[in-house]
Order: sequence, then C-alpha cells, then structure tokens
Amino acid sequence: MANKVLLISQQEIADLVKRLAYELDRDYRDRTPVLVGVLKGSFVFLADLIRQMQTPIRNIELMRLSSYGSATVSSGEVKMLMGLTLGVATHQDVILIEDIVDTGLSTSTALQAIQIQNPASLKLCALLSKPSRRQVSVEIDYLGVTIGDRFVVGYGIDMDEQYRQLPAIYALED
Ligand code: PRP
Ligand code: MN
Ligand code: MG
Repeated sequence: MANKVLLISQQEIADLVKRLAYELDRDYRDRTPVLVGVLKGSFVFLADLIRQMQTPIRNIELMRLSSYGSATVSSGEVKMLMGLTLGVATHQDVILIEDIVDTGLSTSTALQAIQIQNPASLKLCALLSKPSRRQVSVEIDYLGVTIGDRFVVGYGIDMDEQYRQLPAIYALED
C-alpha cells in the first residue's frame, strides 16, 4: 500500500486558488469568459476557483478526458470520454481549467478541441505543473505551482479513482 506524504496543504491550496482568481479577474475584468473544466480531475479546483472569482462568467462547460486509467504513468493515449458541446467556445474568451499538466497530452488534446471551435481567445489555467514529465510543450498562462516528479493525489486528483476527496494534495510513495 502506498504511503501518502503531504505536499500542498489546504491553506496553501486556498492561497494558490485566491492568487489565480485574482490574476484572472485582473485580466478578464471587461470580458465574460467561458470556463472549460477537464473532468474528472479539475472538478474540485474549478468549484473553488469560480467562487473566488469576481469576473462575470458567461458559461461553465465540462469535457472529460482520460489517459491514466489505473496506472501512475500516462498510457500515452488520451480518450475523449465526453467532448465539448458544439459551438460553446465559438467567438468566446475561453479559459481551460486543468488540475495538473504532466505529460501535457491531455491538456493539448483539450486545447485542440477548443481551438477548432474558433474561440476569440484561449488561455490555460492549471493548478499544478510537472514539467519533468512533459512530452508535448504546453504554455500555462495561469499556473498555481510547479511540482517535482512525484505522483500526486487529492483535491480532485486520483490514483485509480481513489483519493479525489482529500482536501490537500499528497505525494504517493511506495
Ligand atoms: C489526469 C489529470 C490531468 C491529466 C494530466 O487525468 O487530471 O487531466 O491526467 O496528465 P497529462 O498531462 O500527462 O495528460 P486522468 O487522465 O487521470 O483522468 P481523470 O481526470 O479523470 O483522473
Ligand atoms: Mn484529468
Ligand atoms: Mg486520473
């Protein structure tokens, strides 16, 4: 059974979310963006982030991607289990919300799915980034924090569907 080591506390997460909400409010002051969350992992972050933002949000949309299954390394194949609703990004200022960018495969798939709808603008907001594992380069416009090469769980992020409910972020160690 894997051992959990606290990596980012509840308070630290709250501070990161507040800072990201502040940055988004600063940049989207005069616009009404569409937020697109990537399920399942982003649901906790998205829920907290939108309640810290002052910006009037035009629409909250969700898509569901999966590439890890029960493994702790990416399968390399991103399955689109639920695509983006037709036309929701068209001519909109879209912000993609991800819990973590690891290899970058999921995020780049999500960005492409939005881009083909021809948004007015498209930015990426991610709570965590693990650059040591990157396979495709992804520009993160709004980043919470960079982490090392450790498998993390909690705050929406799972290992084989477990641990999503943990309020803080933990590294799993063997
Ligand atoms: C996880 C995580 C990100 C993605 C990041 O999702 O939530 O979406 O992997 O990894 P990547 O940069 O290597 O693509 P996962 O595929 O586990 O699905 P889930 O969100 O339903 O847990
Ligand atoms: Mn995910
Ligand atoms: Mg997962």
